[in-house]
Amino acid sequence: MSKQTDDFFKNIVSHAKEYGFVFPSSEIYDGLSAVYDYGQLGSELKNNLKTYWWKAMVQLNENIVGIDAAIFMHPTTWKASGHVDGFNDPMIDNKDSKKRYRADQLIEDKITRYEKDGKTEKATKLQQDLDDALSTDDLARLKAIIEEHAIVCPISGTSNWTEVRQFNLMFATQMGAMADGAEQVYLRPETAQGIFVNFLNVQKTGRMKIPFGIAQIGKAFRNEVIARQFIMRMREFEQMELQFFVRPGTEMEWYNKWKETRLKWHLALGSNPEKYRYHDHVKLAHYANAAVDIEYDFPFGFKEVEGIHSRTDFDLKQHQEFSKKKLQYFDPEINQNYIPYVVETSIGLDRLFLTVLANSLVEEDLSTEEKQDSRTVLRFHPVIAPVKAAVLPLTKKDGLPEKAREISAKLKLDYNIQYDEKDAIGKRYRRQDAIGTPFCITVDHQTLEDNTVTIRERDSMEQYRVNADELTNKIGELVSWTNLLKQLV
Ligand code: GAP
Repeated sequence: MSKQTDDFFKNIVSHAKEYGFVFPSSEIYDGLSAVYDYGQLGSELKNNLKTYWWKAMVQLNENIVGIDAAIFMHPTTWKASGHVDGFNDPMIDNKDSKKRYRADQLIEDKITRYEKDGKTEKATKLQQDLDDALSTDDLARLKAIIEEHAIVCPISGTSNWTEVRQFNLMFATQMGAMADGAEQVYLRPETAQGIFVNFLNVQKTGRMKIPFGIAQIGKAFRNEVIARQFIMRMREFEQMELQFFVRPGTEMEWYNKWKETRLKWHLALGSNPEKYRYHDHVKLAHYANAAVDIEYDFPFGFKEVEGIHSRTDFDLKQHQEFSKKKLQYFDPEINQNYIPYVVETSIGLDRLFLTVLANSLVEEDLSTEEKQDSRTVLRFHPVIAPVKAAVLPLTKKDGLPEKAREISAKLKLDYNIQYDEKDAIGKRYRRQDAIGTPFCITVDHQTLEDNTVTIRERDSMEQYRVNADELTNKIGELVSWTNLLKQLV
């Protein structure tokens, strides 16, 4: 990371904390590694992002429905899905610093360094070697690559490494009494399996016809070997997943459609298209016949935000075998029973949250010849902004607070509003800019005469007067879901 991008990333993290978006978990006890809490504004933003996803997936598609499955599942689920035996990361320890790393991430960091230094050929060759070693699960080869490229521990600076070993990422716990009979269960490492095991429940009760999808938002847990980069890689995080069930043989058509649809969804939030790219997987997961990531250009480089996988009939077939229950669909159009194929879209809500912060946080220089000035703005798309408008009486006297409260009481029936009367008006505008509030409504003496207020727009800082009775409709136009969703249909 260059100094500039490193500083920008640090700014994001400190801004998120200072304004109540994200706090380290149980901070008074010095925090818990890779676990975070969302604060008063963070949870509003997160809810809005979830709503955006849910509306785009479930509300806009008549053949997609949503569920909310439990986090705990029968332990055989994870045997069937392959997670008990295969959900591993290759890990390596440095004997001097006693620090543990993911072997593939150490190598990826080296590739990024080669790219930054303009050693493109070396980077390409190393990427190929890494892909080969990963696709054959060749742990000895990973160790050899680390040695060949003189990769050292960032803490000790030495290359005194252990062998590379596999490490299962699932958290296990006991269900029931602590006696011998207690059953080992897992905190789900992905939400997808809750959808697969409910495939027939939903299909039958919802009278769903293929192609159709089941969507879900929920927590997932992974004991990440190395958790870093803020909310990028967490041990407890949230996923928004769609499993789309299709007739075998049509999966690539749907895979390509979802690949396009999902990128469009990201861009509709007003993000810079140059910040996004597709990354096709070379090493396919055990269940996939095609896979691509949508990557975002974070301050620490392009990284995955969302994965789109063509999962074949792997999961349903496995669950059919392990549960001994038929998980087939009768397709009346071709008069045949089959296990459907599945195209999955899976996005990490926390990573999406980070892309939104990175996309929105701007330091603006407002200096003029007379004076130096700047402001920090979160340029959120108005629809996802945690606070839609702030109502600000110009002064604390002459009946202005009462009038402002009256306006605020009306608006809060429709929108999340803040009322603020403390400090000079300019300072209050800056405070709202810093939390991304798209509109400030100022109540002044003229308001008492003609019932008009000033709207000040966050991005342009333009100000204009409107009648207070028009505010609900005016804000409604500016923050309407309709305008955002229209771009997707
Ligand atoms: N059901 C498929 C699945 O879980 P994945 O690529 O392992 O696929 C999907 O995860 C998404 O979940 C990723 O694109 C990422 O956004 C998010 N994700 C995965 N691990 C994460 C972690 N440790 N912390 C935060 N988000 C994570």
